[in-house]
Amino acid sequence: MNYEELMEKAIEVSKNAYAPYSKFAVGACVLTESGKIYTGCNFENSSYGMAICAERNAIGSAIADGENKIKAVAIYSPNQDNCTPCGACRQVLHEFCENDELDVIVKVGSDIKVYKLSYLLPESFSL
Ligand code: THU
Repeated sequence: MNYEELMEKAIEVSKNAYAPYSKFAVGACVLTESGKIYTGCNFENSSYGMAICAERNAIGSAIADGENKIKAVAIYSPNQDNCTPCGACRQVLHEFCENDELDVIVKVGSDIKVYKLSYLLPESFSL
């Protein structure tokens, strides 16, 4: 699956976001090293701090299916161009990739832009 197709999946799943509080919908689609894909959207709660980001929702599905090596993630929000992952999601992505080589794909106008996780999360923390 190419990165344009990955973005299409992220766009599609963003339509299922449950975001009645922030009204900020997000969809994510992760591509694993073995070529499988998993989608996720954000879902919020009246107890605001319990919101789950789209990226972590998608990563959770990959993990549950036994896939823990992520190669790329496409992220889309209809509310914002260049919707890069929040700090918490950057750290979670770091956990499941090799040397922060993971590609983070976002939409800017009608184009896609690709960042390396190493650019978005410099000097990352590991144990
Ligand atoms: N959100 C994501 O889903 N991913 C991010 O990387 C940034 C934030 C969600 C969380 C919350 O539901 C809404 O966007 C506003 O913060």
